[in-house]
Parts: sequence; structure tokens; C-alpha cells
Amino acid sequence: MPGLLSNQVAIVTGAGRGIGAATARLFAHQGARVVVSDLDPEPAKAVVAEIAGAGGQALAVAGDVTDAAFPDRIMSATIEAYGKLNILVNNAGYTWDGVVHKMTDDQWQAMLDCHVTGPFRMIRAAAPHMREVAKQELAAGKTPEPRCIVNVSSTSGIHGNAGQVNYATAKMGVLGMTMTIAKEWGQFGIRCNCVAFGMIDTRLSRSKELGESIDVHGSKVPLGIPETLRQMATMLIPLGRWGDAEEAAGGILMLASPYASYVTGHCLEVTGGFGI
Ligand SMILES: NC(=O)c1ccc[n+]([C@@H]2O[C@H](COP(=O)([O-])OP(=O)(O)OC[C@H]3O[C@@H](n4cnc5c(N)ncnc54)[C@H](O)[C@@H]3O)[C@@H](O)[C@H]2O)c1
Repeated sequence: MPGLLSNQVAIVTGAGRGIGAATARLFAHQGARVVVSDLDPEPAKAVVAEIAGAGGQALAVAGDVTDAAFPDRIMSATIEAYGKLNILVNNAGYTWDGVVHKMTDDQWQAMLDCHVTGPFRMIRAAAPHMREVAKQELAAGKTPEPRCIVNVSSTSGIHGNAGQVNYATAKMGVLGMTMTIAKEWGQFGIRCNCVAFGMIDTRLSRSKELGESIDVHGSKVPLGIPETLRQMATMLIPLGRWGDAEEAAGGILMLASPYASYVTGHCLEVTGGFGI
């Protein structure tokens, strides 16, 4: 049976683990050929092996979304391998928390670089393969292929979150970018939406006490949320529990699927009701 994304090609950033990995697996299951990208090469390769083992098609392209040369490199690898691009999921991300009066310029800038500048450059680099190709299809009197962008935001961006002025500002920026691209590229049939996640159980959000970290240009940035805060947050979720990566990926697929063909400029909150 053909999947929802049959004959489509997708790039998913930050797809070595967590929400991005679940999205890559789900997209492949729905028939897409997936470019699995991550800062860390090994987890990206493992996701590709898993997809291939399940009969899907995927390619690993490692790289840092904050590297100015990366967007062109991943676009070239995608076109070389699969010939086109239908879906771009800007998911790569991490947190570098701190209260505003103690936040360094590096900490502030790192969040803007990863969550706003990276996705902006990815979208700009995708223009020749999405906007330009759609423009040519329209000029030739054809119906353009399905094309869309899904950006990943957060309830921290929408509502603010103490200790995350850098991340919250960047994730709110994702909304402005999403709505602007929806307005600029809608005429070419290219949709642009975002998903704002609440509490999703991944490396990013597990107990800080587990000691997880990410290496950012040589600095070790601790990840996670203090366990007491995790428990307090759980009490504010109407569904009474955290979401898992597969449920988060479901929100991304929802917006990428043909059932959302008339949805653009939208922010879907996948939160179990957190923040309502
Ligand atoms: N988990 C949550 O509760 C939650 C809530 C709201 C938003 N989000 C967002 O969801 C997205 C995915 O996070 P997750 O929860 O799956 O975390 P995760 O840590 O499990 O996965 C994130 C992946 O992104 C990669 N990554 C980080 N920085 C990168 C960079 N500069 N270039 C390339 N890859 C990079 C990491 O290596 C990692 O594999 C992020 O944008 C995050 O901000 C998560």
C-alpha cells in the first residue's frame, strides 16, 4: 500500500536521536526517501541502518546546522542521491539554560545560531530545489509536486520559560520565520508550518541528574531538566504524562502529509494540553 509520503524526498535535521530520529523512521515508513542529518555521525548512521533494515531508503549526512557551509552541502548530497527535495524538517536543536542576569553572550548567540539562523540558511539553500523548481513547474502549466517545510518550535517560545530567555526568543523567532515563508512561498504551492512541542521525553528533557551533555564547538553544555521541575511540569499537563518521540513525530507527519495540503503558516501545539 503506498504511504502518505510515497515518492517524496525529505531532509530531517537533528535526526540522530529523539524527535528527529522518530520523524525520519516515520517518514520512511510512509514511503519517503529520507536524508538523516545530525551533528553526531554515528547516531545518524544507526538511524539509516534501521530504516534500511525495515525496507526503507535513507542517507546519512552529518553536519552542524550552525556551520554556514552545511546547508549547501546537504542540499547537494540530497539532490545527488535522490534528485529532488519535497520536505524539509528543521528539527536540530538543544538548550543552554541560564537565568537572564547570568547569561553570557555566547549562550545567547548559540541558541539564535542553532534555532533561527540554521533553519533560515537551510530554507534559503533549499530555494533552488523547492521554490525555483515549483516556479518552473507552474510556468510549464503543471501542478507542482507536494512541497513543504516543517520547523520545530517549543512552548517555551510561545509562552516563555524561566531560565530559557535565549531558547524561548529563538523558538518564538521560528514562528515569525514560518509565517513569513508561508507568505513568500505559498504562491508556489510550498507550505511552511511549525510544531511547538511541550514536554517530550528525549535526551534534551530527561533528568538533568543523568548528566547528559552536548559538545558545542569544544564546550560541554549540560542538557536536561532538574527532576523536581520535571515532576512539577507533569502536573500541568492535562493528559497527565509526557509525550514520547513517536507522538512528537506524529505531529510533524500530520503537517507534512497530504491531509494538510491546505494548511500553511500554522503552529501546531503537540503538548498533551500543556500551556492551554
Ligand atoms: N524534548 C522536548 O521536550 C522538546 C520540547 C520542545 C521543543 N523541542 C525541540 O525538538 C527538537 C528536537 O529535540 P529532541 O527533544 O529530539 O532532542 P535530542 O537531544 O533527543 O535530539 C536532538 C538532536 O539534534 C542534534 N543537534 C543538536 N544541535 C545540532 C546542530 N547544531 N546541528 C545538527 N544537529 C544538532 C543532536 O545531536 C541530537 O541528535 C529541538 O529543536 C528541540 O528544541 C524538544
